[in-house]
Amino acid sequence: MTNRATDAPANAAETRSPDQPLISVRNLKMYFPVGSLLSSGGRKVLKAVDDVSFDLFPGETFGLVGESGCGKTTVGRTLVRLYKPTAGQILFDGTDIAGMGEKELKPYRRRMQMIFQDPYASLNPRMTVETIIAEPLRLQGMSKSEAHDRVLELIDSVGLKRDHLNRYPHEFSGGQRQRIGIARSLATNPEFIVCDEPISALDVSIQAQVINMLEEMQERLGITYLFVSHDLSMVSHISKRVGVMYLGHMVEIADMEEMYLHHQHPYTQALMSAVPVADPDLAAATQRIVLQGDVPAPIDPPSGCPFRTRCAHCTGRCAEERPKLREVAPGHLLACHLNE
Ligand SMILES: Nc1ncnc2c1ncn2[C@@H]1O[C@H](COP(=O)(O)OP(=O)(O)O)[C@@H](O)[C@H]1O
Ligand SMILES: [Mg+2]
Repeated sequence: MTNRATDAPANAAETRSPDQPLISVRNLKMYFPVGSLLSSGGRKVLKAVDDVSFDLFPGETFGLVGESGCGKTTVGRTLVRLYKPTAGQILFDGTDIAGMGEKELKPYRRRMQMIFQDPYASLNPRMTVETIIAEPLRLQGMSKSEAHDRVLELIDSVGLKRDHLNRYPHEFSGGQRQRIGIARSLATNPEFIVCDEPISALDVSIQAQVINMLEEMQERLGITYLFVSHDLSMVSHISKRVGVMYLGHMVEIADMEEMYLHHQHPYTQALMSAVPVADPDLAAATQRIVLQGDVPAPIDPPSGCPFRTRCAHCTGRCAEERPKLREVAPGHLLACHLNE
C-alpha cells in the first residue's frame, strides 16, 4: 500500500512560489433572490457578499472574521463553488473558475474542499463512514478498491479506527464526526480547504485536538486554509493573516500582528476590544467597545459605508460614498473614510 497521506509530495502547492496567490478573489458578489413573486414586496435580492476582493497565498491560513450573518460562510461556499457567484472572479492558480459549469469544474473540485461548521448536519446519516469518506474519490472516478485503500490511509491520519468504517455517523461523538469530515475533505489531496467554524459546535475539551490536527495536516501537506470564525481571538491563534467582514463587505485585511497593533477600522476596534488579553496592564488599558444596535438587514443595507449606522465616527461623507479598500501600510488594507 502506498502511503500517500503521509509521505508523498502532497500536491502542487509545494512547488508553487509562495508570493503567487493560490487564489485571488476579485469583486466577488453573491446575491440571493428572496421573497416570493406573489408577496407584497415582490422578489428582492439579498446581497450576502458584495464586492469582496482578497488573495490567499499557498500554505497560509487566512482568517475570516465578523459577526454572524456578515457573509463569511457564503464567501467560503462560493470560493469552493458550492455556489455560482453573481459576479466577480475567483482565480484558482491563475484560472477563473467563477463562471465555470460542472464539467469544466471537475478537475478543480478535487483541488478544493470544505469542512463544515456542524458535524451533525453535514454527514449523510444513511451513509457509512467509509462511503462518506470515499464519496469525493468516487466522484472523481476512482475505483472502489483504490478508494478503499485511500480511506484506510485517511482514517489512520485522523485517528479513527478500521472498525469504524462500517458504522453510521450517529454512532460517533461530535469530535469523531468532525474527524470523519476532515478525512473526507482530505481524501482528494486538496490544495485548498475552507474550514467553516469547524470547532464551534464541539465541546471545548476537544476543540484544541481538532485545531492541532488541522495545523498538523497543513504542515505536512502544505494546504491553504480559509478559516472562518466569528471569534477573533480563536482566529488570531492560527491565522497568519486576517480579513474582517461586515454586512457582506471586507472592511480590513492585514497580517495578524499588524492587525493586533495597528487596526484602524472602527468595527475591527470593537472586535479587538472584546479579545481577552493576558497581560493585566494591557487589559486595563484596553477599553471594551460595545457596539450599539444590530447589524442592519442585508436585504436593506445602509447607503455609503455599511458600518456607518453603528459607527461613532460617522460623517456626512460616510452616508454618500462607500469607502474603497485601500492600502494604508504594506499588506494592510482598509475601507474607511476616517484619516483618508
Ligand atoms: N442560500 C441562501 N439564501 C438566502 N439567503 C442566504 C443564503 N445563505 C445565506 N443567506 C443570507 O446571507 C447573509 C450572510 O449569511 P452567511 O454567509 O451564512 O453569514 P455568516 O457565515 O457570516 O454568519 C445572511 O443574511 C443570510 O441570511
Ligand atoms: Mg457562517
